[in-house]
Amino acid sequence: MAEPPVNVSTLRKMKFDGEPIACLTAYDASFAALIDAARMDVVLVGDSLGMVIQGHDTTVPVTVDDIIYHTKAVARGLRHAFLMADMPFMSYTSTEQALDNAVRLMQEGGAMMIKLEGGEGQVDIVEHLARHDIPVCAHLGLKPQSVHKIGGFKVQGREPDQAKAMLDAAIRLQDAGADVVLLECVPNEVGEAATSALDVPVIGIGAGPQVDGQILVLYDILDITQGRTPRFVQNFQQGHESPLAALQAYVQAVKNREYPKPEHCFS
Ligand code: KIV
Repeated sequence: MAEPPVNVSTLRKMKFDGEPIACLTAYDASFAALIDAARMDVVLVGDSLGMVIQGHDTTVPVTVDDIIYHTKAVARGLRHAFLMADMPFMSYTSTEQALDNAVRLMQEGGAMMIKLEGGEGQVDIVEHLARHDIPVCAHLGLKPQSVHKIGGFKVQGREPDQAKAMLDAAIRLQDAGADVVLLECVPNEVGEAATSALDVPVIGIGAGPQVDGQILVLYDILDITQGRTPRFVQNFQQGHESPLAALQAYVQAVKNREYPKPEHCFS
């Protein structure tokens, strides 16, 4: 019998049962079908598409229409995985605008959860979305949409007061209704502390091995990305004959906690 599709309750149960959640980005139907065949739990249509698909240096130029276009395509390729889509830069500056755009990502794109980069300043937005039954993932740590404000793609939460503020914000966002928290580029200790402090699943990218799940960018793990990749990236194509075999290897490595290794982590 086919396994039922992943939903929010499945993700919560996986956290409770200690089963690592395997997540990956996707941008089109063909890769989405392969990723689904590899038994990924969550697929994110990330605004990283601005860099890996559109060739920009940052995610800032990505629009809501871009995300909808790619989410529609990915949705057609999925049967099993849970589909999350990014709210792009400046698409959630007020509660009303956030709700309008989140509804578009769900109704037009087919997303099952929206992700937004946030902190204390986004608590009211998350609360407003949750009140309207929009599933939300709150993205903390390195927030690529703020790259021009923070001056580059840098590890966040190295200082104790910065780490504490991030943890406090994660708890506030959870209490406001966030269903998942995503932590990017933080020391292992911050990933571990957030995972034990929060009831909702914590997905990490460069957040160490103790989080509830891992996410990476598709083109990075298939060794398509040219030039320097971040420290947390592992090339899963190496040693595998097909993209499907590489994707299966990634899922297995996450499930067996063989990824991330110490060389992928910040401490
Ligand atoms: O846009 C994206 O792909 C992301 C992941 C890096 C988590 O936000």
